[in-house]
Order: sequence, then C-alpha cells, then structure tokens
Amino acid sequence: MSSTPVSPEAFRDATRLLAGHVAVVATLGRGGAPHAITATSWTWVSLDPPLVLVCLHEDARVSEAVEDSGTFALSALGADPASTATARWLATGGRPSLGQLDRVPHRPGPVTGDPLVDGALLALECTVAARHPGGDHVIVVGEVVGMSAHDPAGGAALRPLLYSGREYHTLAPVRA
Ligand SMILES: Cc1cc2nc3c(=O)[nH]c(=O)nc-3n(C[C@H](O)[C@H](O)[C@H](O)COP(=O)(O)O)c2cc1C
Repeated sequence: MSSTPVSPEAFRDATRLLAGHVAVVATLGRGGAPHAITATSWTWVSLDPPLVLVCLHEDARVSEAVEDSGTFALSALGADPASTATARWLATGGRPSLGQLDRVPHRPGPVTGDPLVDGALLALECTVAARHPGGDHVIVVGEVVGMSAHDPAGGAALRPLLYSGREYHTLAPVRA
C-alpha cells in the first residue's frame, strides 16, 4: 500500500483550524522550583480509574521535570484575560527557568504540592501511571489523585479557553 508522505509543516497547517482546550501542565523541579507549559494535547481517558493523558514534547523542560517528580498538575483554563496572558507566557520559548509562575496566581495542590492555576475551570493533580513514546512527544498518562472543579461563586470565567487558528478563543452557541 502506498502512502503520501506528510511533512511536519503540512500536518501542523492541516490541524491549524481545529480547537484545543488550553491547559497549564506544571510540576515541581528538583529544587522545588515550578516548571510549567501551555498545552492543548491532552484529554481524559478513563473514569475508573480516573486517567488523563498529556503529550509533552521531548525537548520541553517540563517533560524531564515530570519524569523526575512522577507527578503533575493540569489546570484547564477558563476564557478570561488573565488566563490568556498566562497561556501566552507559558508558551513563550526561551523564558527563564526560574520564576515561571511568579506572575501567575496559583496555589500548591493539597495532594502533590504541584502548582494549580487559580480560576481554572478544572484543576487536576496526577501521579504518572504510564509513559508511552509518541514520536517527538512523550504521552504521559496520569492518574487523577486530586481534583477541584470551578467554583461559580468565585466569579471567574465559565467558558473554556480554546486555541484555534493561532489565536485564543472561547465557545459560542450554534443554533440550527
Ligand atoms: C496553544 C498552545 C498549545 C501547546 N500545546 C503543547 C502541548 O500539548 N505539548 C507540548 O509539549 N507543547 C505544547 N505547546 C508548546 C509549549 O507551550 C512551548 O513549547 C513551551 O514554551 C515549552 O516550554 P519550555 O521552553 O520550558 O521547554 C503549546 C503551545 C501553544 C501556544
């Protein structure tokens, strides 16, 4: 069977208009400093046990930190200006390793101590259950060991922050 070669650039461009829910994946490094990145390559996998997966680039600094710590936090962001600024910052290549969350309101997760972003729609604490090779990414499966869902009384955004067409968006209803 013949196959059409698909270049990385063509594949990236072809997926450009799809939407991903923007999250922050974070863990504590060896010295206790947080490592964090913006990620959309994640999803929930299983309810029993509760599992999520996230695909981390093999060169992302957080990938090595998660391998070391064995835990990570995933904060699924809401659509508000502060969360959008956080997402932009944590996707910025070359930012300093230290102080990555200095400008990001966050708190330690009660189970793992990993940083949870304040105001997230859903904040999960995970222990690494499995790691699978995935080309230039590693697929990290996490068992959810702690969870805090959005508190509407907190007054933060109720809609997800999405990334599509190289910009940040949120949902709008579509009526037939
Ligand atoms: C919207 C968006 C989604 C991203 N999703 C992922 C992802 O799922 N996995 C990943 O490894 N990198 C993803 N990235 C890229 C990382 O956020 C970026 O490379 C990060 O700055 C790497 O951190 P580092 O410099 O500490 O290694 C995404 C970037 C953007 C803008």
